[in-house]
Amino acid sequence: MDGKFIVFEGVEGCGKTTQIERTSQWLSAQNTADAPMVTLTREPGGTQLGSALRQVLLESQTSEPLQDRAELLLYAADRAQHVHRVLKPQLDKGGIVLCDRYIDSTIAYQGYGRGLSLELIVQINYIATDGLTGDLTLWLDVAPEIALARAKRRGNCNRMEEEDLTFHRRVQQGYAALARAYPQRIARIDASASEDDVQTQIQTVLAERFPEWLGN
Ligand code: TYD
Repeated sequence: MDGKFIVFEGVEGCGKTTQIERTSQWLSAQNTADAPMVTLTREPGGTQLGSALRQVLLESQTSEPLQDRAELLLYAADRAQHVHRVLKPQLDKGGIVLCDRYIDSTIAYQGYGRGLSLELIVQINYIATDGLTGDLTLWLDVAPEIALARAKRRGNCNRMEEEDLTFHRRVQQGYAALARAYPQRIARIDASASEDDVQTQIQTVLAERFPEWLGN
């Protein structure tokens, strides 16, 4: 596998979607001799099956609440399909994959947020991904109070955004713990800064790690 797998992570409203799109445009505009193809994808929902699972996972509370373990397994099913249909094929072709969320989201949300066993999550994810891990995770770090208020201003809150602030604080603690445990893989980005400044921080990290991607 020659490609590079870059993951964007953070709490709701941290600005991931805008930043991943800008990063994709920036990388695609680099004209190195044999520039790798850039694929932009997300979880949940990066495949046809994933789109159906995403609807189930994110629709507002229904009369039958989703059980925590069922939620964990549905995210894992989305991931298994995504790894085999999108991530591995693109990486095998030598492409750059930019992915909005991956395993760290499950550790943060289902582990720290819901309180499920981290060991169980790691095992299930190993089965789902066949051991595929990201090369670099960009953690867009912003206080959940600020981020959630941004997400709520956007309106149309999904099932996770409807959780209370204490849930999102636990999720944030999960990201902080992951960043401490994997300082090589996880780069912290100060996402409380302006949109342009956040993009500059991301480009700086990518330029340091992958100078070969940048043409001048
Ligand atoms: P999305 O609308 O993509 O949220 P955002 O724009 O904040 O990325 O919804 C994804 C939601 O799913 C988000 O609330 C996080 C949650 N999630 C998990 O709980 N576990 C997971 O493994 C993944 C991939 C996402």
